[in-house]
Amino acid sequence: MPFNNPPPLTFTSRRLQDRVVFITGASSGIGAAAARLFAAEGAKVALAARRMDQLERLGAELLEAGCEALPVECDVTDERSVAAAIEATVRQFGKLDGAFNNAGIFGAPAPVHEIDLNIFDAVIATNLRGVVTCMKHEVQAMLANGGGAIVNTSSIGGIVGGANNAIYAASKWGLAGLTKCAALDYARKGIRVNAIAPGPTRSGMLDAWLPTDEALAEMAASFPMNYIADPDDMARAALFLLTDEARWTTGVILPCEGGASAA
Ligand SMILES: NC(=O)c1ccc[n+]([C@@H]2O[C@H](COP(=O)([O-])OP(=O)(O)OC[C@H]3O[C@@H](n4cnc5c(N)ncnc54)[C@H](O)[C@@H]3O)[C@@H](O)[C@H]2O)c1
Repeated sequence: MPFNNPPPLTFTSRRLQDRVVFITGASSGIGAAAARLFAAEGAKVALAARRMDQLERLGAELLEAGCEALPVECDVTDERSVAAAIEATVRQFGKLDGAFNNAGIFGAPAPVHEIDLNIFDAVIATNLRGVVTCMKHEVQAMLANGGGAIVNTSSIGGIVGGANNAIYAASKWGLAGLTKCAALDYARKGIRVNAIAPGPTRSGMLDAWLPTDEALAEMAASFPMNYIADPDDMARAALFLLTDEARWTTGVILPCEGGASAA
């Protein structure tokens, strides 16, 4: 089979110009930062989450800044809701080029013998089944459009083990397998599939887990770079994977965790 190399890239300052990107968990934290960044890079963004009031506020902010944004209600645990949100995105913008499957929940820390299986089911339903559901419908739209790029949000908990973290880790390690297999499913169909693996990042999720400055400082100190990331740090890693600058990168789980998995 002949090689199929595209021509050299021409770099622009707006790296997602006119690309349509669907973002889950866009109502807060990393997802909201990604929506602002992708829109600033020229993308038309679909803001998907359950909290419409927050999505509408973000949508209004982006429209005010001259960007195109569509707030769309989406519960990733409900396939009909996901399908409807992606359909609404394609109806509004005419196509789907990119997806950032970022919605997630933490659950509750516990050693394995104390796991509450209802919490396990809820975490898997959102963090793993939710991403499978989104990808199923995103890929259908992308195949119809000749290709695309998908970035999933894993976690440092999805690349290294951690005490009391089995529930969350199981969902995020599963996400790594999903990402790698999907990358191979679509490698010759123009769809790249990657993931970012954030370390501790300032967001509602982290604040609920580590509510004091002391707890945050202790967490930061346990990382090689002594660092708690901003949501924008994660958005920038996802941006790279979505753009053509990463056109030969697929099936990668990109650690964004201040060096923790290097140790
Ligand atoms: N903050 C961290 O330290 C950290 C570290 C590693 C990985 N992550 C991952 O980053 C992602 C974003 O989290 P965040 O830190 O921005 O926290 P966050 O709580 O601010 O954001 C999570 C988002 O997911 C949405 N969401 C949850 N369940 C949903 C559902 N069923 N349907 C649709 N949307 C749903 C929430 O509404 C929210 O918008 C998650 O996947 C999380 O696991 C976060």
